[in-house]
Amino acid sequence: MAKYNYKIRFVDPARNYRMIKDEIDAAYFEAMSKGDLVDRDQLKSFEADLAKFVGAKYAIGLNSGYDALHMSLRAAGIGPGDEVIIPAHTFVATCSAIVNTGATPVLVDVTKDFNIDVDKIEPVITKKTKAVIPVHLSGWMADMPRIIKIAEKCKLVVIEDACQSLGSSINGKGAGSWGLTGCWSFYPFKILGGYGDGGAITTNDPDVALFARRMRYNGEDRETGEYHGHGFTCLLDNLQAAFLDVKLKHLPRWIVRRKEIAERYRKGLSDIPDLLLPHYNKPGFDHVYQNYTVRAKQGNDFSEFLKKNGVEVLTQFRKPYYKHKALKLLDKGFPETEALSCEVCSLPMNIEVTDKEVDYVISVIRKFYGKT
Ligand SMILES: Cc1ncc(COP(=O)(O)O)c(C=O)c1O
Repeated sequence: MAKYNYKIRFVDPARNYRMIKDEIDAAYFEAMSKGDLVDRDQLKSFEADLAKFVGAKYAIGLNSGYDALHMSLRAAGIGPGDEVIIPAHTFVATCSAIVNTGATPVLVDVTKDFNIDVDKIEPVITKKTKAVIPVHLSGWMADMPRIIKIAEKCKLVVIEDACQSLGSSINGKGAGSWGLTGCWSFYPFKILGGYGDGGAITTNDPDVALFARRMRYNGEDRETGEYHGHGFTCLLDNLQAAFLDVKLKHLPRWIVRRKEIAERYRKGLSDIPDLLLPHYNKPGFDHVYQNYTVRAKQGNDFSEFLKKNGVEVLTQFRKPYYKHKALKLLDKGFPETEALSCEVCSLPMNIEVTDKEVDYVISVIRKFYGKT
């Protein structure tokens, strides 16, 4: 495997830590000196703050975004014999959560904005279809007003995979507040990243909230000690919750910075015909740029050139998940997913990067295309 000497990192957790070191250290000191490790005030406080931020009644901290999806499906009673619609272009966890409940994922293609093609949902609905999981990829929401309409008409549960879109919205209504649940990941590379795995669901449904609270703790009601089912060990660590709560307070400002960086990329790159930039014109939709994913006609030549010039980029996903044989999924042919998977390249997008560094990335790309 080629080794690259990166000048600009895709994300830089150590630099981020230095920016808020005093607050993180204080949170650590408080939790550790009190011995607050499992299900303590820090978790409750983070859950309350997250619910408020998203615009939902409840937030339940879990171990990962995968757990959030898995728990949501189980809360909706989805299992063997059921079908769940998902986009062909997403992180594999969206699909695995369905398979692991015993249900069947039904894939549909995406559109140019990387999100589920809403026109393709109704044609795949059968008597077995129980739910749809729109994924809000890269900080840009799927068309929820249209999806909710279809779901209401066809009596489908909507579970939002909002793992990449904390803070985005449509007409002011936040990602994760539209469906039965919103599913969140706090994996370190995420817009709100912890120092290890983490996740949550948000919901307005008290029964779903109660179900998740019990099942994350092996089915136990912590007040009575009664087991309410065979559950899981997937509670968000108290220490992670304390750190995430610190970071959440900075998030509105950090989103503004992400938008500034996106605008800088747009200004520096919009005259290159072979490069499709992630700026979409949909009134009311707010992009928070979890990722700045461009489509470069030159695919790997483009991403390799950036890497060789010290710019760390991600090319998720060159091989769509349904093409991995071991997953035993039906490849019905998804033309847009296949076209974009050869071209995707996510540029450095994080609040640690300086304007000068963004300008360097722009200059490398312009050099690749022979533009000065
Ligand atoms: C769209 C999407 N869904 C699900 C997940 C799963 O989250 P996690 O890695 O926290 O399990 C992620 C993140 O990795 C994601 O990006």
